Parts: sequence; C-alpha cells; structure tokens
Amino acid sequence: MSQFWSDVVHDLTPYVPGEQPKLENLVKLNTNENPYGPSPKVIAALKAEAADSLRLYPDPNSDKLKAAIAEYHGLQPNQVFVGNGSDEVLAHVFQALLKHSRPLLFPDITYSFYPVYCALYGIEFETIPLDRHFEINIHDYDRPNGGIIFPNPNAPTSIPLELGKIEELLQKNKYSVVVIDEAYVDFGTESAVRLINTYPNLLVTQTLSKARSLAGLRVGYALGNADLIEALTRVKDSFNSYPIDRFAEAGAIAAMQDVDYFEKTCKKVVTTRNDLVKRLEALNFVVLPSGANFILVKHKNLDGAELTAKLREQSIIVRHFKNPARIAPYMRITIGTEAQSALLLQALTQILK
Ligand SMILES: Cc1ncc(COP(=O)(O)O)c(C=O)c1O
Repeated sequence: MSQFWSDVVHDLTPYVPGEQPKLENLVKLNTNENPYGPSPKVIAALKAEAADSLRLYPDPNSDKLKAAIAEYHGLQPNQVFVGNGSDEVLAHVFQALLKHSRPLLFPDITYSFYPVYCALYGIEFETIPLDRHFEINIHDYDRPNGGIIFPNPNAPTSIPLELGKIEELLQKNKYSVVVIDEAYVDFGTESAVRLINTYPNLLVTQTLSKARSLAGLRVGYALGNADLIEALTRVKDSFNSYPIDRFAEAGAIAAMQDVDYFEKTCKKVVTTRNDLVKRLEALNFVVLPSGANFILVKHKNLDGAELTAKLREQSIIVRHFKNPARIAPYMRITIGTEAQSALLLQALTQILK
C-alpha cells in the first residue's frame, strides 16, 4: 500500500500463476507446459537470430508471423492478431471488445485471469455456473450480455464443448462477441477456427505455449473477422508497438511451419494422457473427461489439498485450487512424459496404501 498508488491499483487482486520452482529434479506437472522441447527447427531459427540485427527494432506488425499463422489456419493475414503470450492478447480483447454497458458472461469455474482483467479495465461481468457434470450449458447464457468468453476445452476442468453448441451460441448472440480461448485445443478438442468466415462475432485465441512447447518464448494470437482484429491492433498500438521481439517472431514462424513435429508431439501427449486416465481410474480416481494436456482428478478417500501436499513430499508438483469450492476436492495434473506418468503413479500407489 502506498499513497502514491492510483485507486485502481488499491483494488486489484492480481492473477497468481502456477509455481515455477527454483529446485531442480522435480517432476513438474503443475503449469500445463509441454514435456517435450520445441521443434529443432525453432532452435535453429533462434540461433540464427542471435546476430547484429538485434540492434534494430523488430517489425511492429509482425507481418511474417501473421502470414505463417494465417497460412496454417487457412485464413488471411488481416484475420490474425499476435501478442506476447495469449494472456496479453486476452488483455487487449477484454479492453477492445468486451467492455460494454451489458455484463460480460463467463463460467463460474474457468481461467482465473478473466475476473482479473475485468477488475483492471472496469468491466462488469456475471459468472454462469457450470452444470453438475462441470459442463458448460449454453442455454444458461440466454441472457442480455456484452460478450461471452470461455476456454474450450475449459480450464481447469479440461472438458471440451462440442462445436455445434458453440455455433448455436454464435447464432443466438449476433450482437456480441463470443471469444473462445483455445489454449489447449490441439490436445483433442475441435477448434472453432473454421467458423470464423461465417460468424463475424467470433474471436478465437490460441497460444504457442502449450502444443508448440514455447511457453518461454511468449507468443499467442487471436483469429477473427478483420474488424475485430483492427480493434485489437488499435489497443496494442496504444500500449506497446513491439510486443513480439525478433527471437519470438523467428521462433514462432518456425514452430507454425513445422506441422509434422507439432502433430507428433500432440499425439504423444494425448496417448500418455489416455493411458494415465485408465491407470488412475484403476486406483479409484474420478477423472473428468479431458480434451486438454491436463486432467482434473479426485480420489474418494483423500482430498485434493492433502494429495497435492503428499505428492510434493515426493518431489512431484501438481496444482490444487482452493477456490471455487466445488473443485477443491480435485487436483489438476499436467500430462508429462511417460516416465513422469510412471513416477506419478508409483507415488500415488504408495500414498494410497
Ligand atoms: C485457458 C488459458 N488461456 C490462456 C492462457 C495463457 O497462455 P499464454 O499466455 O502462455 O499464451 C492459459 C495459460 O495457462 C490458459 O490456461
């Protein structure tokens, strides 16, 4: 607290990201990073970028990166916006497209950064409870709104929503923007990107942090109608002209172009997830249906906080959410390598003995 702070700062409750521990040799399954490194082509592109040209500013429009992203998704470059991680992209989305006189709607259990952006930008919002299966029921969104946002698959539940339901939501909400945050979409959830040319009110955000193994490079993007993209560009150019540095642009282009590596990595993660789910169920865990690179699980005898603490004693870190109360019995486990899954299962078997 300080007399020098502006009023908005006094009232902020910032987002708290998952722990990045300083200890080595931990089995780190707490922040949904990819257990496999980025494509070797990304590393080569980054090395090539370590050159005299670093004295020059990067391209403020990131045109080459937008072209690579547009090509991958079969869109036009003016339908692409890029930013420093999808968190920055989302921040601009909240300010540029979701601040209206009617409230923004999002699920009561979802990405906990959403209410933080609302507080930062003074956006009124209403949370819509997930149903008793932790699913989004789109009929609950039939109410006046200034926009709708949720991740698909949702986080931290991991549950995907069918594309048909998203289409219904877009048709019912022609006068507000529907944002689908697809941070985890590549691990088995159907993307809404193919609806973009039909629905001018659809904005999809994606990231290179998860499926493309580049959480450390900080690149995310939004896809949508050119008018929506222009709104984001206006905010970005009123905030920071150069959110994508030379390394980020070079590495992200190589990652978007190495489709083969990306597909293979995603497939490995999905195979490990499906195998882990079966084994956890055999240990009496309830596992919510996942379309992501993480799972939300609970055990009938031990609660989420206790299990998380016991795993930590064995150098395995997973994530527990105290709030909302409905998910407190659960813990969220990021899918790691097969070897990490084996260590996790071994530790759980011992804890549950
Ligand atoms: C649902 C969701 N959206 C967006 C993000 C932001 O990802 P990044 O800023 O790394 O692109 C995350 C990060 O964990 C997330 O869980």
